[in-house]
Amino acid sequence: MSRISLSRFLIEAQRTEGNLPPELRLLIETVARACKAISHSVNKGALAGVLGEAGSGNVQGEAQKKLDVIANDILLEANEWGGSLAAMASEEMELPYSIPENYPRGRYLLLFDPLDGSSNIDVNISVGTIFSVLECPPGDVAPSEADFLQSGRRQVAAGYTVYGPQTMLVLTFGHGVHGFTLDREQGSFVLTHPDMRIPASTKEFAINMSNQRHWEAPVQRYIGELLAGTTGPLGKDYNMRWVASMVAEVHRILVRGGVFMYPKDARDPSKPGKLRLMYEGNPMAFIVEQAGGAATNGRMPILDIQPSKLHERVAIFLGSREEVERVTAYHAAD
Ligand code: AHG
Ligand code: MN
Ligand code: MN
Repeated sequence: MSRISLSRFLIEAQRTEGNLPPELRLLIETVARACKAISHSVNKGALAGVLGEAGSGNVQGEAQKKLDVIANDILLEANEWGGSLAAMASEEMELPYSIPENYPRGRYLLLFDPLDGSSNIDVNISVGTIFSVLECPPGDVAPSEADFLQSGRRQVAAGYTVYGPQTMLVLTFGHGVHGFTLDREQGSFVLTHPDMRIPASTKEFAINMSNQRHWEAPVQRYIGELLAGTTGPLGKDYNMRWVASMVAEVHRILVRGGVFMYPKDARDPSKPGKLRLMYEGNPMAFIVEQAGGAATNGRMPILDIQPSKLHERVAIFLGSREEVERVTAYHAAD
């Protein structure tokens, strides 16, 4: 059987299912092209002098790596002229980026985490790009932060690219989740993982255990039960993984199940979690739900949260349905 490239997959989705507007198809193709360029930079590493610190900070108060800045610039440049977008927002930029006036303005808003897991870049461990697409509310003025503050349910597409042993793009536009592997010789993404589904049960969990003393009671209870294994109420032994790249953790969960958690942390009560809602939580929650899994902040589905600011943080529990439902029920019982 002939291979299905990303372009063919998207054109067929547009034609046969009628669920992919042409401007959105073009936008996804453009994001994929940008991710290919980011993949090349990530792969070159020290050979291209792209490792290490950029010497600057972002709005989150985090030191930027050179590749955080490079990936952000690649995404901005690739997406500003195509005519699909009204504005973009990024983890690395305090304010939304309006499409320059010399380019046509389209109907979508693109949000991204240009390089996720960037603490891993200098040690040659998987990193990724995460993106989310919303429709821009109608109006002829330049889009502002308020236009982005839509719940995750309103996303029209979301995806990530993982730069690992293989570079893979995983995508949803609300009709299942599909994975594409980059064929470097051909220069194209090829459909290798159609209809990805997350198993409902699992024996694998991911959490940064070093934060244990700062967790709330429901999380203490749940992790205690996982660690108790066959001797505890859950009656089975669990294994643990922590890559410290959310993209890599979510990818593992899509392939073989698992539960990923970044709970609220008592160290800074002003932050309801470490990860960001709009360009980490929402796109991953959309993908996970589309693959049959669940994603909550411990209290409610992430996709139902009404955001109040662009760089808002959120607690995250996502992955295999049984486990996410269990830890969410423990929060309700608290
Ligand atoms: P980013 O590199 O975009 O700031 O995101 C890093 C995130 C996420 O990818 C990962 O799950 C988590 O931070 C790792 O946190 P720890 O440093 O607590 O391990
Ligand atoms: Mn991130
Ligand atoms: Mn990042």
